[in-house]
Amino acid sequence: MADQHLDNLRTIVGGSNMLLGTDAATFESDYRQVFHGKSLAVVRPGNTDEVSAVMRYCYTNGISVVPQGGNTSLLGGSVPDATGASIVISLARLNQIRAIDPMNATMTVSAGVTLSQARGAAESVGALFPLRIGSEGSCQIGGNLSTNAGGTAVLRYGNMRDLVLGLEVVLPDGRIWNGLRGLRKDNAGYDLKHLFIGSEGTLGIITAAVLKLFPIPRTVSSAFLGTHSPEDALAIFKRIRERLGTDVSAFELISSDAMALVLSHLNDRPSPLETPHPWYVLVETSSNADQEDAEAQLVSVLSDALSAGHATDAVIAANARQAADFWTIREEISDAQTQARGSVRCDISVPLSSIPDFIRDTTAKVLTREPATRMIVYGHVGDGNVHFNPLRPADVAAQTFVQTHGAAISQIIDDAASELNGSISAEHGVGIAKRDELLTVRSREELEMAWAVKRALDPLNLLNPGKVLPVLPD
Ligand code: FAD
Ligand code: LAC
Ligand code: ZN
Repeated sequence: MADQHLDNLRTIVGGSNMLLGTDAATFESDYRQVFHGKSLAVVRPGNTDEVSAVMRYCYTNGISVVPQGGNTSLLGGSVPDATGASIVISLARLNQIRAIDPMNATMTVSAGVTLSQARGAAESVGALFPLRIGSEGSCQIGGNLSTNAGGTAVLRYGNMRDLVLGLEVVLPDGRIWNGLRGLRKDNAGYDLKHLFIGSEGTLGIITAAVLKLFPIPRTVSSAFLGTHSPEDALAIFKRIRERLGTDVSAFELISSDAMALVLSHLNDRPSPLETPHPWYVLVETSSNADQEDAEAQLVSVLSDALSAGHATDAVIAANARQAADFWTIREEISDAQTQARGSVRCDISVPLSSIPDFIRDTTAKVLTREPATRMIVYGHVGDGNVHFNPLRPADVAAQTFVQTHGAAISQIIDDAASELNGSISAEHGVGIAKRDELLTVRSREELEMAWAVKRALDPLNLLNPGKVLPVLPD
């Protein structure tokens, strides 16, 4: 029977676009090699009609389907379970820039276009597609939409949800919804695209999107700062925001342990600042002023932050290359942890005013459990989003640390965020790893509504089953 299904699916996508056995292995584990599963086959359709035909076949035959983009998500959403009953549908071959409309400031792309390809296509017409995350070379627009990705430019441009005007989606039964409208105003009924954004492939397969483009700012400046504490970092943030408004395009916090880890990961690269500091901030401004004026403004506000004692040192990137070096330090923190192995990764958000309490109290609780834990604490603090990722002490094995402390530390972090009216997942989604925690942080009513939507669109529960939605107790 399985062989018959494989033959029929192979007829739809062509022999070289069905992968089995060892050829399928890279699609059965995530990028970090934390989540592992087994697939019936990996199927690689080349266009929307083929995605539709695959879905129609699977719906008729009760075969479950796991959509996969760049496979860079951090919570296991793109990996099949261990049963080997699901096919993985890879969107990588849907990689066309379909149209660019500079006057409308939009770009229509297929779902498998990588984020860096999309940014490059925008640049080729003198425009900006502003989503910026460290995985941009591999992650795909379909995956970015399905996770409602965030990253380092949210402060000025918003999450992926804010960057899209229209979608094309293949529904679980194979029907194609063409909602590729490039309109900034359209209140003709429910705005259904938002159901698919952030639903992690559980409601439909996104095959294309109309994305918003922005003018490229005339001047972009980056500065690396040292500071005493998260309180002081927030004081700097408030000052810069008050003075420069939405010209502040990024405001990232980095703990000293995160800085030490990433500099060592980058072959002992020197720090941008001469002396060590307990905390660091990477700030970026984007404006239409000319370079001299923009920098004079930044120098002025940073001087005030230094005089007030909130910043303890500051260096402004002298050129684009130095700015890129600053950003490499920031973007490589994720891979530095993957390489170090043995971290507990949590991605929380709290109201900005609660960030200092959250970091102080949670750090104390984690260190009480295991005093030599390295506190890899960093993230998009201007959005209230902290990646709080305790890492094993250097002399403790990764497995020992995660097995002994992983669940308890995660709980400490997520409980602290919840107590401060925060979220246990700011930007990384739910996948499989955070699914059951939704039972404690979401009300029964909210989860019942989510299941009602799921049943309406995917009545046979074939699309990414077991992800995002926890089973409700009777
Ligand atoms: P995948 O991992 O393949 O899939 C993610 C989910 O979407 C899965 O549930 C999958 O089933 C579903 N899916 C994928 N494509 C489709 C589709 N076309 N239709 C329907 N469902 C689909 N995330 C952030 O938000 N901010 C960051 O700053 C950030 N930085 C990162 C840095 C690094 C180094 C790494 C490794 C990851 C980072 N991430 C970040 C996480 C990750 O890159 C994002 O979640 C990204 O949006 C996932 O895209 P992807 O194409 O890899 O999706
Ligand atoms: C980051 C990812 C992990 O900001 O969200 O580095
Ligand atoms: Zn992030």
